[in-house]
Amino acid sequence: MAAISEILNKKEFSKDDIIRLLSITNKDEHELLIKKAYSVKVNTVGRKVHLRGLIEFSNYCRKDCYYCGIRKGNQKINRYSLSDEQVLQVVELARRNGLTGVVLQSGETSSQLFTERVTNLIAKIKEITDPGFRITLSLGEQTPETYRQWFEAGAQRYLLRIETSSEKLYRKIHPDNELHNFKTRLECLKNIQNIGYMAGTGVMIGLPFQTIENLTDDLLFIKERKIDMVGMGPYLEHADTPLYNYKDLLMPQTERLKLSIRMIAILRIMMPDINIASTTALQSIDPSGRELGLQAGANVMMPNLTPLKYRSNYLLYDNKPCIDQVADDCLYCLTKRIKMIGEDIAYNDYGDSMHFINR
Ligand code: 5AD
Ligand code: FES
Repeated sequence: MAAISEILNKKEFSKDDIIRLLSITNKDEHELLIKKAYSVKVNTVGRKVHLRGLIEFSNYCRKDCYYCGIRKGNQKINRYSLSDEQVLQVVELARRNGLTGVVLQSGETSSQLFTERVTNLIAKIKEITDPGFRITLSLGEQTPETYRQWFEAGAQRYLLRIETSSEKLYRKIHPDNELHNFKTRLECLKNIQNIGYMAGTGVMIGLPFQTIENLTDDLLFIKERKIDMVGMGPYLEHADTPLYNYKDLLMPQTERLKLSIRMIAILRIMMPDINIASTTALQSIDPSGRELGLQAGANVMMPNLTPLKYRSNYLLYDNKPCIDQVADDCLYCLTKRIKMIGEDIAYNDYGDSMHFINR
């Protein structure tokens, strides 16, 4: 078997190399990989973290994904939608704290009314922020016309996770109907890129039925598709979802965390100039999970700025952090966490993906 150090010195990883790296069980080998990824990060995007304020502005969703806590079929949660005024207050909070952009996220809704509402909201955000202020959307699958309308209104970035690049696995974790179609998902991602957005995607790691080969293909997919931004994290159980029935198939959460960290590290080495988020899901397994993400190559964090009283209705998975009174101030908390590992927050910097600028 090839030595890890030998693989890490290669210019390009083969599929077998990635499989070998993901399959690491030895602690020293794991550390070697993380160290290499961190040095690649420091030499390209640097030792600085870009913050984006996350606003979970509505949990209404037309989808019924088997893994997700805010799926349509979950009747145990209260559905909410923030008013424009509430969203603008959060934007103002972000701006006051020196953040250069926000992420508007919601469950998936498609209606003329929703499309128009978002278009107007983008315009209102532009009115109260400086011209460069970055608006990222994470609002699921939409028609090309809708994507274009929002882009023209002033949104520059779009996040649409592919969840898995394996069509077979995609089918297993979604209902079998037109609303949950793998090809549509791919098409949407392509449309987002063609319109000119900085495009983000990502996958869940440690899903039931998922193999190391699936994850390898995920990384190759991200590279082939020239993705600019990636957010990926461990799959986490949610008791009120169908996928919970398969919890006995899962690897322990600590293993899912380590695997997620290796995914980030390998991706950083494969794509030195992209933006990679250190996701909240990492933190729900280990309180320092997001710091581990940064140390493995991630360079973006998304402090949750959703007003506290709504957060408990946006639980995509069990034990999501940052939902109680003590954890209200994610911005403060993340700032401390970043300092603790010797990195700096990149203020006065939009933090556009260098990959986007370079391509
Ligand atoms: N565990 C981890 N991530 C999840 N997401 C949804 N449900 C879960 C879960 N149970 C992720 C999906 C989605 C993003 C908004 O949250 O990847 O795209
Ligand atoms: Fe939300 Fe620490 S990141 S409380």
